[in-house]
Amino acid sequence: MPPSTTSEKASEPSLPQATFRFRCIGCSSITESAAQDFRCFQCGNLLEITDSSWNSRNPAALKSLWRERRTLNESLDLSGVWRFRELLPAPQSAEQVVTLREGNTPLYELPQSSRTTGVARLFAKHQGMNPTGSFKDAGMTVAATFARQAGYRWVACASTGNTSASMAAYAARGGMRSLVLVPEGKISWSKLSQSLDYGALTCQLRTDFDGCLRLLQDLVKRAPVYQLNSINPFRLEGQKTLAFELLEQLEWQPPDHIIVPGGNLGNSSAIGKALLEMLNLGLISRLPKLSVIQAEGANALVRTLREAAGKHLVSVQAETRATAIRIGNPASWEKAVRVLQATGGACEQVGELEIAQAKAEIGAEGIGCEPASAVTLAGLKKLLRQGFVKPDETVVLVLTGNLLKDPDFTMEFHRGDLFRNTAHQAESATLNPFRHPPIVLDATLDAVIRALEQAEKSDPPYSNI
Ligand code: F0G
Repeated sequence: MPPSTTSEKASEPSLPQATFRFRCIGCSSITESAAQDFRCFQCGNLLEITDSSWNSRNPAALKSLWRERRTLNESLDLSGVWRFRELLPAPQSAEQVVTLREGNTPLYELPQSSRTTGVARLFAKHQGMNPTGSFKDAGMTVAATFARQAGYRWVACASTGNTSASMAAYAARGGMRSLVLVPEGKISWSKLSQSLDYGALTCQLRTDFDGCLRLLQDLVKRAPVYQLNSINPFRLEGQKTLAFELLEQLEWQPPDHIIVPGGNLGNSSAIGKALLEMLNLGLISRLPKLSVIQAEGANALVRTLREAAGKHLVSVQAETRATAIRIGNPASWEKAVRVLQATGGACEQVGELEIAQAKAEIGAEGIGCEPASAVTLAGLKKLLRQGFVKPDETVVLVLTGNLLKDPDFTMEFHRGDLFRNTAHQAESATLNPFRHPPIVLDATLDAVIRALEQAEKSDPPYSNI
């Protein structure tokens, strides 16, 4: 544990001093500023943010300060991200901060999934309960703050829908304009409609997510726009707070496993960074294993580890109905490999039917999530079968997006259309017990009572009742 040199009090100035630097994850060189592409000047690898002051904090004092802030009404304290500002890069002043009261998301027990999986202590950290409905808000409040502080008029991102919704909202709140690049026809209408309402210039490009991201990389070299993809290390700093808040909710007792979906791999990198920083500082005494789950059709990290031992990226042509993670060339793969190795986590893939069933099961818990988030429960089942997770261990699934993010998927699932005319059509009959299609009836009392009696006879396979 590092020496406790700094004492923390609620009355200290509202922001710590800005002492952070950028460090290259490849050659470790340290710089005071970053180029537009957030890559190392020397070797071209990705940058991360580091701050020597983070190591000199007093862990016990931090825990009580953070808890005390939950009772305060200052804008920074109401944010579940800025509440943890001692371990974040500090902006120049509190007035710069662009916040929508993100974070403060619930940690739910999953009683039904506990019963079916046999894992008695099973939790879901629901990041879909953020202001724009996904975990992206935790990172966006930090990155949008630094974009505004740097005086940018335009911010931009490539997205599978959630980053763009979040970016557009925070840009609007921060008085900036936003440019969204999304793959045409490959993101949910629900997410697209958010960025329209928040006033973004929304471009649907005839390519996939990876094509959008490539174009953005070229754009930021030519136009004065600030890149808000998770290559931007300020995003990952904000996303660290998921782990701080989770540990606080668990009374600082680390779970054995944290399971996250993997797409562009920013979130797993951020959570891993937070876990290592918490261990280093003495906020926790041991590391949970952080495992990443991908869709079989978008399994670049799985293949990178299996076929290249994590040494170089194995890209794939991505295809999955979990469109949020339909990514074949993940930008932060190297950061993710490092945190998997540091925490001893696993990397697995799950199929489309497994994702659909897990999503229905999480829905039947009364909380719901979007398809990409459901890979966590499907992945847990697989890791249990492999013996990597044991039933007597404590497991946290990170649910990254809200159920309302992808209503088309949900409707098609319940109507039985999700796998129509696909290779999974025959096999998808196994999902029938999980479907609850709407029924059309004559508007008579008799018809409704008959429907009720019919439903009473058929036991739902999965419910909390
Ligand atoms: N879950 C959801 C709901 C997502 O939207 C994403 C990524 C992920 C998981 C994967 O997280 O990329 O950090 O590994 N969505 C991005 C977007 C790519 O543009 O909204 P990751």
